Amino acid sequence: MFNLPPPKDDGLYTPSVKTQSADKHYFLARYIDAFTTSMKGKWRLHYIDLFAGAGIERLEESGELAWGSPMIAAQSPKPFDGLHLCELDHRKYTALKTRVTALHPCVHIWSGDANVTISKMLPAIPPRDALSLAFLDPYGLHLDFATLQCLSDKRADLIIFFPDRLDILRNWKTYYYDKHDSNLDRFLGPDSNWRSVLNEASSANRVDVLRDLYIAQVRQKLGYTEFEFERISARGRPLYYLVLCSRNKLATKFWREITKKERGGQRRFDWG
Ligand SMILES: C[S@@+](CC[C@H](N)C(=O)[O-])C[C@H]1O[C@@H](n2cnc3c(N)ncnc32)[C@H](O)[C@@H]1O
Repeated sequence: MFNLPPPKDDGLYTPSVKTQSADKHYFLARYIDAFTTSMKGKWRLHYIDLFAGAGIERLEESGELAWGSPMIAAQSPKPFDGLHLCELDHRKYTALKTRVTALHPCVHIWSGDANVTISKMLPAIPPRDALSLAFLDPYGLHLDFATLQCLSDKRADLIIFFPDRLDILRNWKTYYYDKHDSNLDRFLGPDSNWRSVLNEASSANRVDVLRDLYIAQVRQKLGYTEFEFERISARGRPLYYLVLCSRNKLATKFWREITKKERGGQRRFDWG
C-alpha cells in the first residue's frame, strides 16, 4: 500500500475526529491502491466522495494530523483521472477545495447536501470508458438509498459506511420506528419492511438480519452482486461496518486481500 507522509499544519480549518477514522482510512488507502493498480490503463478511473470532510483532520486522542479520504485519493500513486467531491459544511468545503486542488489537476467539488447535488455531479463522469470508486461515509444515516440509485447507473464500486451499532440498533425502536420517512427509511430504501423485520428478529440476530436486509435491497433494487464487510471497532466495541458493493468479482478479491492485515500490521488468521 502507499504510505503518505503525515500532513503538515497548513493553517486551514482542521476538524477533530475519533481515532477509529485511522482504521477506515487504512482500508480505503489499501483498496484504492489495489483498484488503481489493477485498473489503470484499462479504464478512465474516477473517485467519488460524497461526504468528503475537510481533507485534513486532527486525531482526538493523540493530537496528530491525518489525511482525510479525498486527500488520500488525490495522492494515489496511480492517479485517478477525476475526483468528484461533495461536502455540506461550508468551512470544511472551503478548506478541502484549497487543499485538494493543490494536489490534483482534475477536481469537481460541490458544496451542499450530497443527496441533492448527486444529480449535478454525475454528468461529469463519462458514460463509456469510466470506472469509479465511490466512498460514502457520512456521520450517520445521511446517505439516501435514492442517492445510491443514482450512482448505480455508473460503473462504480461502492464503499459504504453502515452505522448498525453506532445508530440503527440503538435508535430504531425509540427514535425511528414511529417516524414516517425517517432517516432510516431513506437509508434502507423503499419497501424494506424494516419495522417488522427488526421486530421479529431476536436481539442476538439483529446485527446480521439488518445487514442482510440492506444487502438484499442493494442487490435486488440496484443490481449489485458482490459484497464484503469490514467491522470497525474502538477499544473492542463494534461501531459500524464498511460495506463493499460491486458488480465484479475482482472487487471482492481485492477486498479480501487488503483486509488480511490490520492497521497495526498484524496478519489475520484465515478460518476459511
Ligand atoms: C465522517 S465525515 C467524513 C470524512 C471523510 N469522508 C473522510 O473520511 O475523511 C462526514 C462528513 O459528511 C459531511 N456531511 C454530513 N451530511 C452531509 C450531506 N448531507 N451532504 C454532504 N456532506 C455531508 C459532514 O460535514 C462531514 O464532514
